[in-house]
Amino acid sequence: MKIVHTVEDLRAVVKSAKSAQKSVGLVPTMGFLHEGHLSLMAAAKKNTDFVVVSLFVNPTQFGPNEDLESYPRDFEKDAALCENAGVDVLFNPSVEEMYGSGYSTYVHCEGHITQALCGASRPVHFKGVTSVVSKLFNMVAPNKAFFGQKDAQQVAVIEKMVRELNFDLEIVPCPIVREPDGLALSSRNAYLSEAERKDALVLFKSLKLAEQMIEAGERDAQKIKDEMKALIEKIAYAEIDYVAIVDAATLESVQRLQGDMLIALAVKIGKPRLIDNIRLWV
Ligand code: PAJ
Repeated sequence: MKIVHTVEDLRAVVKSAKSAQKSVGLVPTMGFLHEGHLSLMAAAKKNTDFVVVSLFVNPTQFGPNEDLESYPRDFEKDAALCENAGVDVLFNPSVEEMYGSGYSTYVHCEGHITQALCGASRPVHFKGVTSVVSKLFNMVAPNKAFFGQKDAQQVAVIEKMVRELNFDLEIVPCPIVREPDGLALSSRNAYLSEAERKDALVLFKSLKLAEQMIEAGERDAQKIKDEMKALIEKIAYAEIDYVAIVDAATLESVQRLQGDMLIALAVKIGKPRLIDNIRLWV
């Protein structure tokens, strides 16, 4: 595996893979890698000939009071995990390399899709994501790029951006990887104390509750959300950011469940704000 830190070196290695007729897969990450990230690399290995992983804690997607400084990092371990996963190139640029001084160009997907759900409490987040992901797409020009459904809104926003800006590549959404008890893997789980780790399971439990209600025939979105909230509120210190039932593509709220839906929630458990979701067809 090659580790590169500059755009120039990245372009050079990708160019030689392409001239050997290899298809290129890109897996963007912010590091502190876990099985969720590794599942994207496995999907990239399976679907493309040459796998590029980017590891960059992107400052533009963090709000002023968010955890940019404390975001967990372990480059040596991450590099070893990438090597084991059969990654061809690990791109680990500095902030300076990505955003030189006076940087001022952004890609922003406007409207409901970036204002809903996580966008409501993280107003600059998706602008930072679409900007950095566009930059990575331009640097690598991959045939396919792999993203986790864990961040379902991120997938919806990036798919819209790819369509609307005519990026010539395919977005491959990959399923959520969970702990054996159901907690969705996240780099931010590292912030949880032992007691909080147990309580964090309430996100998954509330999604399971919603699933059971739907299986039993419930179609009223408000009733399902109310039950989910009541379950979460049993954890006294849990702070609900949102519990939402939306159309999976537009993220518009629905009243009655029908079609391709996303049930998504964000809840603060102690320090970290955790997200989870399920996608379902009704
Ligand atoms: P990060 O949070 O590091 O996640 C990188 C990728 O791993 C994302 O596509 C995310 O959805 C996926 N992922 C995280 N946890 C997962 C899980 N439990 N199961 C499956 N996939 C999972 O998302 C970002 O970084 C950034 O916003 C980025 C796209 C890299 C842009 O900076």
